[in-house]
Amino acid sequence: MKQNKKIILTGDRPTGKLHLGHYVGSLKNRVSIQNSNDYDEMYIMIADAQALTDNADNPEKIRNSIFEVALDYLSVGLDPKKVNIFIQSEVSALTELTFFYANLVTVSRLQRNPTVKNEIKLRNFEANIPVGFFTYPISQAADITAFKANIVPVGEDQLPMIEQTREIVRSFNRIYEEVLIEPEAYLPTSKAALRLPGIDGNAKMSKSLGNCIFLSDSKEEVEKKVLSMYTDPNHIRIEDPGNTKDNPVFTYLEALVEEHHFQKYWNEYHNLDELKAHYERGGIGDMKVKRFLLNVIEETLAPIRERRAYYEERPEEVIKILRDGTEKAITVANKTLKEVKEAMKINYFEDQTWLQTGKKCE
Ligand code: TRP
Repeated sequence: MKQNKKIILTGDRPTGKLHLGHYVGSLKNRVSIQNSNDYDEMYIMIADAQALTDNADNPEKIRNSIFEVALDYLSVGLDPKKVNIFIQSEVSALTELTFFYANLVTVSRLQRNPTVKNEIKLRNFEANIPVGFFTYPISQAADITAFKANIVPVGEDQLPMIEQTREIVRSFNRIYEEVLIEPEAYLPTSKAALRLPGIDGNAKMSKSLGNCIFLSDSKEEVEKKVLSMYTDPNHIRIEDPGNTKDNPVFTYLEALVEEHHFQKYWNEYHNLDELKAHYERGGIGDMKVKRFLLNVIEETLAPIRERRAYYEERPEEVIKILRDGTEKAITVANKTLKEVKEAMKINYFEDQTWLQTGKKCE
């Protein structure tokens, strides 16, 4: 089914506060879509039900992260007047949709999902994969389709989820009726932003690895982290040629730096290419590059910190935002569920032909 509206939906699992990787990989993108005003509806979901699929024994962690993630959203500049922020588990239609869509997906198809495969390995589930976890791509399809979202801003690792959703939509529309919308992923344009490495050089910034710069870190914490970042281990003396690939300091710069930063903080160079060329030739110390990166990160994080302080002092405002957003989400998702049930012909009490069945037998 085609739709002329631009409906955007995305979400995050609340398993901890959000970090710089989330910012460059996704949050920044969301804010710029919001500020472009080039959309009709935008939903941002705190995916607590999905987070529970591999945290069944740790509900406290999820519960405690909901408020943190909401604060992160608001502090990066997502505006509750323009976007609808809501809590997944409160929207029961999503669970119902998941149950119906599950009939359209085979076990082997889920087994082939590269993201699920990878996550199963990472979590050492082996033979003990929770069914809920194994089937979360189906629930993610419910999240997306319940809002008729056609644009889903996500990181690259989520592409298999979008593909799975598209398949479910096609099956549903073919078997029943054209009710659902096929979504498309919307990836960040910068390669570096697709996956920000950890400050220790590990390929992924992740809370469990302790290598993150959090959006809520203080200025002092950020300074400590940036100045201790892993760089090119073979770049020992200043005059040594340096490697800018696999060097997180440069990956971060790639994801964050803009030309105005050079004018403001390091006007010996006009752009990152010039700085990189010099570093590769040799003659620039790591500390100098790190100081520059610190300025760039601080320029990004300072306004985020300020907005966070505002909302931290007004928790009831945050809760109202979540409550209103969730109410709106419930209304929209219920409407889709109704259409889905109608298409599946399981809307018995609203279906005049079904209500007449008994009479025909008279
Ligand atoms: N799987 C996403 C993540 O781990 C979170 C998520 C849940 C999501 N439902 C979604 C993202 C729907 C986009 C659309 O980050």
